[in-house]
Amino acid sequence: MRRKIIAGNWKMNLTASEAQDLTRYIATYVQDRTDPLVIIFPPYPYFSPVNYEINMASVELGAQNVHSEENGAFTGEVSQSMLIALGCTYVIIGHSERRAIFGESDEFINAKLKRVTGGSLTPVLCIGETLEEREQNITNDRIKQQIEDDLDEIEISNGHKIVIAYEPVWAIGTGKNATPRQAEDVHAFIRGLLSDKYGSEIADDISILYGGSVKPDNAVELLSNPNIDGALVGGASLTPDLFIPIIQAAE
Ligand code: PGA
Repeated sequence: MRRKIIAGNWKMNLTASEAQDLTRYIATYVQDRTDPLVIIFPPYPYFSPVNYEINMASVELGAQNVHSEENGAFTGEVSQSMLIALGCTYVIIGHSERRAIFGESDEFINAKLKRVTGGSLTPVLCIGETLEEREQNITNDRIKQQIEDDLDEIEISNGHKIVIAYEPVWAIGTGKNATPRQAEDVHAFIRGLLSDKYGSEIADDISILYGGSVKPDNAVELLSNPNIDGALVGGASLTPDLFIPIIQAAE
């Protein structure tokens, strides 16, 4: 069975003490609840204090990015083993901000996935179309191309070892979100592609999250769709008043 997941991507936000306070709220709420699985993705410098606040709660620590190499002259980058050493269990790969602002190609994203898949970090692969692509009616073509290129030569023998996040680029941080129907259609399409590639048993076990302006008031409707297994939340993950109701929407 695939898992329901609510993930908070803090991006480059919060002070160290705000990060600790927020984690304490989340950890106190979650305690030993495991459904949905809650993952938080703080900026790297906050890993240790955040991990301290997570304490024994069932909250997983994730990283917002990783490099494809294990070590070397890559100023400013962080490797998979460094993340694992600090207690990370999940890593976002291919977020649209990495693709659009930092020029990450599908080839580079594929190299990162090759590095991480099969190890102890579970990748959260982000895919999604731009507004222009949606208006040109080529959303499915774009999604198919990303799945083909990003997952090229990636073996998945256990559906729990990868998470996909469908994040329409036009919905991220804009306050616009895909209608539940639009999102479900793309999620079902993605599951079909995964089924063609890995077989239906593995595809059925892969959690596909929706991301893009998820808020408490749209979470319940989005999450009630059969192929929407959770949410990757940006802005609304920065305050407990918004994030905890989204967790509750998945319970
Ligand atoms: P948003 O961000 O919820 O602020 O739209 C989502 C994301 O970028 O993962």
